[in-house]
Amino acid sequence: MLSPAMVRLSDAFIDDLLARTDVVEVIGARVPLKRKGREYSACCPFHDERTPSFYVSPTKQFYHCFGCGAHGTAISFLMNYDRLEFLDAVEELARRAGMEVPRETRQRNQDHDTRDLYAALDAASRYFQQQLLASDKAGRYLKQRGIDADQRARFAIGYAPDGYAALKDALATDERRAKLLDRAGLFSKNDRGHVYDKFRDRVMFPIFDRRGRVIAFGGRILGHDDGPKYLNSPETALFHKGRELYGLWQARQANQTLQRLIVVEGYMDVVALFQHGLSQAVATLGTATTPDHAELLFRNAADVYFCFDGDDAGRRAAWKALESVLPRMKEGRQAFFLFLPDGEDPDTIVRKEGASGFEARLKQATPLSEFFFDTLSKDTNLATLDGKARLAERARPMLERIPEGAFADLMQQQLTRLAGTRAPSPAIASHSSSGASRSLAPAPKRSLIRSAIGLLLQKPAMALQTEPPYPFADLRQPGVPLLIELLELVRQRPDITTGALLEHYAEHEELSALQRMAAQTWPGDENGWLQELHDVIMQLERQTREQRIGELQEKQRNHGLDDVDKYELRMLLQARAERH
Ligand code: UTP
Ligand code: MN
Repeated sequence: MLSPAMVRLSDAFIDDLLARTDVVEVIGARVPLKRKGREYSACCPFHDERTPSFYVSPTKQFYHCFGCGAHGTAISFLMNYDRLEFLDAVEELARRAGMEVPRETRQRNQDHDTRDLYAALDAASRYFQQQLLASDKAGRYLKQRGIDADQRARFAIGYAPDGYAALKDALATDERRAKLLDRAGLFSKNDRGHVYDKFRDRVMFPIFDRRGRVIAFGGRILGHDDGPKYLNSPETALFHKGRELYGLWQARQANQTLQRLIVVEGYMDVVALFQHGLSQAVATLGTATTPDHAELLFRNAADVYFCFDGDDAGRRAAWKALESVLPRMKEGRQAFFLFLPDGEDPDTIVRKEGASGFEARLKQATPLSEFFFDTLSKDTNLATLDGKARLAERARPMLERIPEGAFADLMQQQLTRLAGTRAPSPAIASHSSSGASRSLAPAPKRSLIRSAIGLLLQKPAMALQTEPPYPFADLRQPGVPLLIELLELVRQRPDITTGALLEHYAEHEELSALQRMAAQTWPGDENGWLQELHDVIMQLERQTREQRIGELQEKQRNHGLDDVDKYELRMLLQARAERH
């Protein structure tokens, strides 16, 4: 999902907007809603169903489908239902609410300026393509790398001539154009303020956005001596490299439906794979796979293959990709990891082994689950109880990030098989696709932290009953920092709704877990919840005390305690005795 931060709208603005928007009205205008207790329901507009499992909550201000897992606020509903970009959805809601979207944001999206910026990049791209036709040297280079005319056209590959002002002289014909090219990231400036072409004597790979517009360039050096092998455009108003995938536009053009995407590292790898008929290749632009990348990948295809070097660095990069992907492993999605032999990249492999050779390797790629458990159980002996415990401990917090569904279940089963234990099941795992079964299923068992967070998501204002310093802040348990963050957030914005709260986590890995918890209907009423929250916090405090007692006792055994420690331990033991 595109998130507020991407377009630099302030959180406060989004909060306000959501506070003045009624999600029931917005959805009700598009989907017939029926009142059902405290919520509204309908047949889900995002998947095919005959019995309604789509719920809209006026108090929490968000929607959730217990069938397909679709969920979000009024903003994400418009994005998904009306197929709007984030900013357009915001504008639509702002118009309804009579609010003005902050000027600076609108400028970025709509001004003539922005249109001119796209035009400048397009002109530069066309110029580079012309120059390629005129350069024997660059033509020979591409030929030698096996890139034919079709791929050159498909990727609009070009050439930036040598010299310091080829592009500048050709296109910066007046002050305004010069400024635009500069804002498009095509110039560099020396110490004395002299402006010159950033890309010189390089093969140019334009980077296209999701609508097929050029937003940036990567340039590969032709010789071997001068400067980095690849030079990329700087981040500009239009280009944020952590959110773009080289080749995605071409892959979408080349395939009616995209069942899979193959993620590689380099521009040349993408082009070479296309050259051999593998037209589902994309590349991250010299960065690790970000959560935004993962989102974008799975929005476009159900199966994602990551190619990495087989060395340590490659495996580390693969693990990063895995971490970005886990929270997005919804029903039906699959991720695989292909580790390449030493010294090879997809370009060299597909040239040596052809498409069939590469396909054969993809078939052998390591499924995410295997890579996950292999990595976590490296240096542990699963034949021992200790090793099993260690694996379970490492796996648990990560498995919690997987959205409920068949994949999450499979991973749990695998953990049980390997470690003989179960990670706690996701809060609503026992609720299947039918909305009606929600009230019938037994209340699932939750960890204390999950309970606290779940309660807060029922009614955020309950956070106002607590105050920092939080007595459980030192507790070493997953979720403690998140809980504290939530408490703080509500203290800053006492009126925030559940939906608006979730919007703050649009870019975070915790999002899907939070959304799942928010979708639950908790038994009882507000008074009961408050009491429950109070109890949970007391228990957390007790656990924190036990943790500290344990630490001090261990220190006592190993090194002995100084006077301050002894005093602390005595007080803690006394507090423990009083409570019991
Ligand atoms: P590699 O160094 O593996 O290059 O960088 P490559 O893709 O195999 O290039 P060829 O085959 O020699 O032409 C992989 C990717 O890392 C980024 C680029 O995106 C490149 O495609 N990179 C690499 C840079 O951004 N800058 C560099 O100096 C090098
Ligand atoms: Mn290469």
